[in-house]
Amino acid sequence: MAIKYELTKDLETGNATIDREHRELFQAVNTLMDACGKGQGRAAIEPALKFLLDYVNRHFAHEEQLQTQSGYPNYAGHKQFHEGYKRKLQDIAAQIPAAGPGVADLNNLNMHIGKLVSHIKIEDKKLGAFLKK
Ligand SMILES: [Fe+2]
Repeated sequence: MAIKYELTKDLETGNATIDREHRELFQAVNTLMDACGKGQGRAAIEPALKFLLDYVNRHFAHEEQLQTQSGYPNYAGHKQFHEGYKRKLQDIAAQIPAAGPGVADLNNLNMHIGKLVSHIKIEDKKLGAFLKK
């Protein structure tokens, strides 16, 4: 029933570091979703939730570093997306009640992960192509 996120070929950027981190990011999402699927309270999913939030922050910072180092022309726009994304992810996480995530929480989370998948497919692939030059 739960969606499994996977870094399929069409999501690869061609940059080995970014692709590895995207794979780990999807793994962190899957771990969180598995934890959510067990119908436990918030405390039980807290470690997986915290890991995902931390990992997203680390990964975005890493991508931004690659952009500033390489003089990536769309750094500002890309960073703006990252900032908004992190904020919204934190909001969604903060809304999960102590009793554990309900259907609406899981929908919000899945929708937000979907936005990341689209971002990878378009913006991160552009970055990967630029870094290859
Ligand atoms: Fe990105």
